[in-house]
Amino acid sequence: MRRAGRVVAEMHEATREAAKPGVTTAELDAVARDVLARRDAKSNFLHYRGYPAVICTSPNDMIVHGIPGQYTLEEGDILSIDCGAIIEGYHGDAAFTMAVGEVSGEAARLIETTERSLWAGIEQLRNGNRLHEVGRAVQDVAESAGFSVVREYVGHAIGTAMHEEPQVPNYWPGQGGPMLRSGMVFAVEPMVNAGGPATRILEDGWSVVTTDGKLSAHFEHTIAVTDDGPEVLTLP
Ligand code: MF3
Ligand code: CO
Repeated sequence: MRRAGRVVAEMHEATREAAKPGVTTAELDAVARDVLARRDAKSNFLHYRGYPAVICTSPNDMIVHGIPGQYTLEEGDILSIDCGAIIEGYHGDAAFTMAVGEVSGEAARLIETTERSLWAGIEQLRNGNRLHEVGRAVQDVAESAGFSVVREYVGHAIGTAMHEEPQVPNYWPGQGGPMLRSGMVFAVEPMVNAGGPATRILEDGWSVVTTDGKLSAHFEHTIAVTDDGPEVLTLP
């Protein structure tokens, strides 16, 4: 899973570098495909429930699951890029949100807050802790900044499948949840909205957007619980 995670990190570096005004999201998908081919990795996104690409690209008010296509990036956009890879049957999954050129102060604050909420959640992934402390920490960071947390989409355990049980909510669901043990691996993935938390799926059946049209950001890492604390696998 460390090896799969490093491939995902490389997909992040390559797509981040390529994402400039005038570039289409389909071109970013091609960049990510090149990384998978170079590292002899398989895609866990391609053909997942019929999904047609190896990454998700979600601009501005799109929360997650945007399909790469002819959308052309513009100065001032924010863009979420979600990438995954399989090495020898083991999965990695991670996402980030970036500014395309100069963005508004509010957009920059949303991106910064969402990444900080992910790291607050990661900090809770410790042997003997309860899983739902992750969501409690994420929610506290997001809501303290005046933003809201999406409820309909959540993180997940990950291993020989991309999505394993249990789910990892980004909010406090009312009880502590499963006890964490060393060796467990999770994808923690806060989706934070500048406005309200409500979501809607577009006619393509995939793209999830905010119902109020306000911005949304998404950060995700794959993290192992170890005796030495959380180990983030999707870093270079
Ligand atoms: N990375 C997403 C997740 O964490 C999966 C993308 S959906 C897919 O669940 F269809 F693109 F695979
Ligand atoms: Co995920």
